[in-house]
Amino acid sequence: MIKKAVTSMLCIGLILIVCIPIKAQYNEILAPTPPMGWISWNLFEGNISESIVMELADAMEANGLKEVGYEYIILDDLWHGGRDENGKILSDPVKFPNGMKVVADYVHSKGLKFGIYTDIAEYTCAGMVGSLNYEESDAQTFAEWGVDYIKCDYCHAPEDLWTAVDRYGKFIKAVRATGRPMVFAICEWGQRSPWLWGSKVDGQLWRTTWDLRDTWEHGQYNNGHNGIMEALDRQVGLEKYAGPGRWNDPDMLVIGLNGTGASSSANGASGCSVVEYEAQFGLWALLSAPLLMTCDIRDMSVDTKRILTNPELIAVNQDKLGKQASRINKNNSEEIWAKPLADGSWAVGFLNRDNNEVKNITLNSSELGLKGKLKVRDLWLHQDLEVKQAEQLTLSVKPHECRVLKIELER
Ligand code: GLA
Repeated sequence: MIKKAVTSMLCIGLILIVCIPIKAQYNEILAPTPPMGWISWNLFEGNISESIVMELADAMEANGLKEVGYEYIILDDLWHGGRDENGKILSDPVKFPNGMKVVADYVHSKGLKFGIYTDIAEYTCAGMVGSLNYEESDAQTFAEWGVDYIKCDYCHAPEDLWTAVDRYGKFIKAVRATGRPMVFAICEWGQRSPWLWGSKVDGQLWRTTWDLRDTWEHGQYNNGHNGIMEALDRQVGLEKYAGPGRWNDPDMLVIGLNGTGASSSANGASGCSVVEYEAQFGLWALLSAPLLMTCDIRDMSVDTKRILTNPELIAVNQDKLGKQASRINKNNSEEIWAKPLADGSWAVGFLNRDNNEVKNITLNSSELGLKGKLKVRDLWLHQDLEVKQAEQLTLSVKPHECRVLKIELER
């Protein structure tokens, strides 16, 4: 009964949304490929400052991250300093003594882009001032500061779909009216099926899940418990909603945190193994998910840097076709995920979810619609693999490993 009512509400909602006239005032597609960058929440929470942002911008360049495509530095919650007597939003004067424009200017001087966080209610999730009823003022202020990306949360807002669509729609309209091309990230945790309406209100990405914790699997899924595997399962069926300028967002990369984050470590999430972090990167690349790092990029281990800068997986994530991988095969703990690429080839993930056993996972080339001799490249090993049987490919996959291959017909 309730399910039926929710479904019909969603349908009526959609019909209305299609009629909402929101048009950007410039001709470029925002976020034509999934956004790549770094976001402050998992590691720093409130301990952010002008000097930290500057150090991170320096690190993005010095550590080769900018070179492989990372471009945004995004401040999440707790940068705020209230409002002035005219209602203009202010940054925290202690954390950002020279104001936010100076911070954004520095990020831009490095050839990078700057993002900021707000919430479309009276308060943010961490209790700072939100943008409700200040949509035009905040959009204008963000534009003046030189913001390129806005993450907009939904804490303290009513639960119904209508309010979410209305509030996000109104705010994005104000953002577009500034004329500054700012990517807009909707963050209502997938609770109101934002993949159905996020793009209609001109959002470029939308969270599909609760906050991701720094763990492989929690064994339960709710606000507080969500591991890499729980988030992954919730992407099944959402692939049709993804494309250039409209991305499903299964939340930040936990790679390299090793349990050192704050709320990312909540409820016993104590970090992942290197193999598990590799799997998150491979899967997020296949899913065309935003690649938003959260570890301390000023000081990365050799493995963390190797994973985050894998150029062949980044190319899969940034592929111009913008398709999201589908789970084309599931046999207990063995899964195959496949993403078509612009050059006619496929990126294919072989995932072993078993906790203990190595599995041999077999792909039949017909599952990709390919007939003939295959050309196969391993995107973790960075080498071509020899194919013994024309129609079949069997890979040995370690527990919690996701091997990713690029597969095409030999020309
Ligand atoms: C929510 C969001 C997180 C983060 C925090 C900040 O939980 O889902 O990603 O932005 O708020 O308070």
